[in-house]
Amino acid sequence: MPAVPADLHDYLSQHDARIQRELFEFLRIPSVSARSEHDADTARAAEWTAESLRAAGLTATVHQTEGHPVVVGEWRGAGPAAPTVLVYGHYDVQPAEPLELWTSPAFEPTIRDGKLFARGSVDDKGQLFLHIKALEAHLAVRGRLPVNVLVLAEGEEEVGSEHLAPFIAANASLLASDAVIISDSAMFAPGLPSILSSLRGLAYFQIDVQGPAQDLHSGSYGGAVVNPAMALARILATLHDDAGHIAIAGFYDDVRDWPAAVRTQMKGLPFDAEQFRAETGATALGGEAGYTVLEQLWTRPTCEVNGLLSGYTGEGAKTVLPARAMAKVSCRLVPDQDPAKIESLMKAHVARVAPAGVTATVTHLHGGRPWRAELNGPLYDAARRALGAAFGREPVITGEGGSIPVVGDFERILGAPVLLVGFGLPGENAHAPDEWLSMENFTVGMRAIATLWDELGTGGVR
Ligand code: BES
Ligand code: ZN
Repeated sequence: MPAVPADLHDYLSQHDARIQRELFEFLRIPSVSARSEHDADTARAAEWTAESLRAAGLTATVHQTEGHPVVVGEWRGAGPAAPTVLVYGHYDVQPAEPLELWTSPAFEPTIRDGKLFARGSVDDKGQLFLHIKALEAHLAVRGRLPVNVLVLAEGEEEVGSEHLAPFIAANASLLASDAVIISDSAMFAPGLPSILSSLRGLAYFQIDVQGPAQDLHSGSYGGAVVNPAMALARILATLHDDAGHIAIAGFYDDVRDWPAAVRTQMKGLPFDAEQFRAETGATALGGEAGYTVLEQLWTRPTCEVNGLLSGYTGEGAKTVLPARAMAKVSCRLVPDQDPAKIESLMKAHVARVAPAGVTATVTHLHGGRPWRAELNGPLYDAARRALGAAFGREPVITGEGGSIPVVGDFERILGAPVLLVGFGLPGENAHAPDEWLSMENFTVGMRAIATLWDELGTGGVR
């Protein structure tokens, strides 16, 4: 196992205080992509990212899109014969609400017990930033990198990356790469570096049920007029059978069995289902019968209600028969399910089960393809060595239940293999109040990535 190169390690140690100050500055920008009132902040985070890339020694441009800007950093000093490696991350964050549940304010970074609390600390500003600092270390200490480097930072990951695939396709020659590296995920356990071999995809829907033309007195009309809230509840109840299987006709048609080798790897991971349950605060685990928890999370599709709205929900009681009801429903997908096909199956299903007397409409909000890779070749070997050097331990291969839709697009449009090495931890509260990033993982992760560039130089990229 190699060691973290001393010159890079020393540079990062000497600049530790400044690096932390800069990270805090990045985290103070409330770049909430979902909220238009934060559009100026989101644009400011894009400019901040570009400035940070320039300070690291890359050139950087901010590209306007129909949505939030895309930042591209470039360093091509290795020359046209050398391979090019693209680093992807996102500078946008999830909304911080409910604000009152944060121990310290969401956009005022605070360290407690070795954890850096702030919205975006782990997802994904802290992880994007550690990449920028690893590049800075190379360019400052040695004046060069062993390969050409591109950095692509987007501002719409948390809202479905709608404009990113078209941007990549339109700029395919600018972005042409031999490999893609992403840190936007978590390690399996503290001290256990992890390389991801799969992500689930997503198909996100809104179901609207319209009943009478307006709200009605529930005494004068209830019993005779079909209640849209009840109709929606019935529709939602048909999505699963009693064993937790999804009951939409054709839903599993494209679900592939997982390679035996991957299943064996999964069984070898240190996972305690009871501890997992206890951490969630749920009284029992559920889900699809016949699968372990990790299989349920990584290898099986889901259909979840993400939100429900209907009728009177204020203080006290109001006797009303609501005119409409709405649900947000998302399906996590696994290889080889196609979000567009799931959309048509969902629409057909809802049309079939919707009770007479209401109109049910399904709108597809956004989607992304699932991803799974065979982790063979020099890119992954370099990652194993670099993570081993920094963490003092061989990385494990893990899966993931979450989604990063652009991963499949990188493979499809650029034809480049994708390496996913994340430095979050279980319980990091991504998307929730008190999101945190382990300061140790930030520090060691930065050194792992700095080492990775050397290993790519030595062992090649593909
Ligand atoms: N960083 C996450 C992806 C992720 C989630 C990695 C969980 C590892 C564990 C990313 O920012 C995210 O939240 N993605 C969304 C994608 C969606 C909006 C299309 C997700 O998974 O919900
Ligand atoms: Zn993220």
